[in-house]
Amino acid sequence: MEELLRLEQVSYSYDHGAPALEALSVTVSAGEKIALVGENGAGKSTFLLCCNGVLAPTSGKIYWQGQPVGRDRRSLTQLRQGVGLVFQDPDAQLLAGTVEEEVSFGPMNLRLSREETAQRVDRALAAFSLEDFRSRAPQYLSGGEKKRVTLADALAMEPRLLLLDEPASSLDPGNARLLEENLERLSSQGMALMVATHDLDFAWRWAGRVLVFHGGRLERDGTPEEVFGDAELLSRCGLAQPVLMEVGRLLGMTPLPRTIEELKKEWNR
Ligand SMILES: Nc1ncnc2c1ncn2[C@@H]1O[C@H](COP(=O)(O)OP(=O)(O)O)[C@@H](O)[C@H]1O
Ligand SMILES: [Mg+2]
Repeated sequence: MEELLRLEQVSYSYDHGAPALEALSVTVSAGEKIALVGENGAGKSTFLLCCNGVLAPTSGKIYWQGQPVGRDRRSLTQLRQGVGLVFQDPDAQLLAGTVEEEVSFGPMNLRLSREETAQRVDRALAAFSLEDFRSRAPQYLSGGEKKRVTLADALAMEPRLLLLDEPASSLDPGNARLLEENLERLSSQGMALMVATHDLDFAWRWAGRVLVFHGGRLERDGTPEEVFGDAELLSRCGLAQPVLMEVGRLLGMTPLPRTIEELKKEWNR
């Protein structure tokens, strides 16, 4: 698999505190679907901020497509073109006067043609059902609507790797489903995705790989079966077994169902 992002022994400490990330090493390849799980304060957001260069590691190295990432502008621009980040708090991200301007901002900075920019903006707005919001001011939208605008923002950049920090936390069930459909589509088009989430059922049905954070350390890096099958790990790291995994086990199913549809199919046999 083509290597996209590699972190080697990356540590990060905020001004006065204990390390928020400690000696973390991980490699992300093209097209991967990775869930980041762990309690509040475990280091997931700090990790994502290091991955797209918002934070500079206190020590350790980051490589983008095999090239070491420095703190010079060229290096950081390259990293941020390849790695998109949707912040947990949309207010940290929304700048423009209208939704359309907001979503155009990134592609315009990439110096794409006006046509290409317009096409990307249309696609991104449509993906999150935002066509009717074009001329609205982002700051007067609801929390969930703002979140959808920041998702469209990231989509319009068409990064190779997209990082999402608890993207569903302010979405209603319909829009959470829309988000998941979009993630599935992006992944099928080859985009690598890394999603920090407390929704372990989502991690179970969606992810190909799960990173468990605990106290600033990467406690485990494995398949959903390995991670969620380790009861000791789950209890130590404040996690729980996904519902469908538990149900599948109770019913003695192999393989364990990932979705309700899989459960129904197996049940009806
Ligand atoms: N801006 C900040 N200043 C100081 N400490 C911070 C800041 N952001 C996070 N931290 C601390 O860093 C640690 C990791 O936090 P964070 O990466 O936000 O974890 P998570 O996203 O898993 O909840 C926590 O101990 C948190 O209190
Ligand atoms: Mg966080």
